[in-house]
Amino acid sequence: MKRAIVVSTLFCLLLHPSFAQKSEVSIDPSNSLGELSPFVYGQFIEYMGRCIDGGIYDEKSPLSDQRGFREDVLEKVKELNPPMLRFPGGTVIKIFHWEDGVGPKEERKAKKNLIWGGINSYRFGTCEFIEYCREIGAEPVLVVNLSTGTPDEAANWVEYCNGTEDTYYANLRRSHGYPEPFNVKYWALGNEEAAEPDAGRHQDPNKYVEDVWHFIKLMKLTDPSIELIANGESGHTEWNRIILKGLDGAIDYISYHAYVGTDANKPYSIFRKINDTDKRLGDFALLVKENSAEKVVNWKKWYRFPHREKPVKIALDEWGIWEYQDPPYGTTNTYEWRHGLATAHFLNVIHRNAAHIAMANWAQMVNILAPIMTDENTSVRQTVFFPLKEYRAHALNESVWTKATSPSVEEGLYSLDVSATIDREKKLLTLYVVNINPESLKTAINFINSQAGKLIGTTTLSATSLSVKNKLSDPDTNVVSTSYKPINKKVNELIFPGESVTICQFEL
Ligand code: AHR
Repeated sequence: MKRAIVVSTLFCLLLHPSFAQKSEVSIDPSNSLGELSPFVYGQFIEYMGRCIDGGIYDEKSPLSDQRGFREDVLEKVKELNPPMLRFPGGTVIKIFHWEDGVGPKEERKAKKNLIWGGINSYRFGTCEFIEYCREIGAEPVLVVNLSTGTPDEAANWVEYCNGTEDTYYANLRRSHGYPEPFNVKYWALGNEEAAEPDAGRHQDPNKYVEDVWHFIKLMKLTDPSIELIANGESGHTEWNRIILKGLDGAIDYISYHAYVGTDANKPYSIFRKINDTDKRLGDFALLVKENSAEKVVNWKKWYRFPHREKPVKIALDEWGIWEYQDPPYGTTNTYEWRHGLATAHFLNVIHRNAAHIAMANWAQMVNILAPIMTDENTSVRQTVFFPLKEYRAHALNESVWTKATSPSVEEGLYSLDVSATIDREKKLLTLYVVNINPESLKTAINFINSQAGKLIGTTTLSATSLSVKNKLSDPDTNVVSTSYKPINKKVNELIFPGESVTICQFEL
């Protein structure tokens, strides 16, 4: 009888997906997936809910410095260390006029936020944004208003930010206390312009092309060194083709937005959606390649500004996890550890698409779909904060080919998802492994076309269950544990704990 129980237990264990199949991770350092731009770890802030006012900025809070920057938030943002910050929208750009938010604060024009509700004080405007970027070491990206704004207004904003001569707008900046130009290099031409319910007027891509040409001409004539992001639309092939063909030569990047969430009663569905995004990004990259010239030729000299020098790349300028929880518009989301794993999985997708993606911005940095949440008294790091921080901290400058073989957790969805980055000069390689299986997985580590690297150490992110959360109501409890283990030897196999993210640093 006892023997029968042992045999049947063994049989069940063998049938359990984690035991049924051996796990293996292969890494081929000779197979480059392209240069990995540091800008893929960017963030985004918008006049929406409490992202800016009451999030990063609160002049009345005792937690803020003399500039009104919440110091507890700033400390956490510095930990995330985003190399790029996008502002001020998002959809709100359709009602944003930059001159409302510069100059003496008491003279700024508070206006109703017609898009998201509430009032925009604009006491955090262009100069405060630039100061924030300087403080955290991030490159600014500004988005221009194509809806209720004009080409002239956009060009004047470029001049205000970057002008060095004796002109009205450069002098206006100087008179506001900023003698040096801000040198804003990246400018986006609108946001989700095809969205009919928004306050935009460009649902016709041909109209977008015609109007945007005018913006481009005036902005580029003001500062020919700026780089431009055209507005692509995820899943809108015709729009993307027309925009790429119509603006070819003048634009440097095309945007793509990707939010994922979970279907009711299907906790793993978010991982499937991230896998779909991986495929869609690949398809989008192909569409970009097919509809824009590798090298620009026959550029009309009478444009009087230069054409782009490099092939058009993707600006994944909004990505994140949108579970439609609390207002505004379901964007106040409390993330579980499952979302932490999903964030790491998504970052692997970004690494694997490194060749096509020039920049990516998590949407948004504080309070709206965010890694950092605040109330009047405190702030917390959500579960998604930790993979964002650790991936950025361990990223190297090129992405290389990896493959995982592992048991499935559901039909067609596998336990392990991997990516790797390399620095050939420093002879370092970082392997990122997400294990969504509740079981630990003993995994063979296999270097292809290269000697096995020496494993320096591993950083593991884990939690006690998929559903645990960090909450503002309990700000001192952190459900995500980060543990570093030094190793310093070559290894043939590693154990990846259940529902964890492991970042392995190798010396080659
Ligand atoms: O990030 C929230 C909103 O999502 C942005 O304003 C918009 O661009 C997107 O639809």
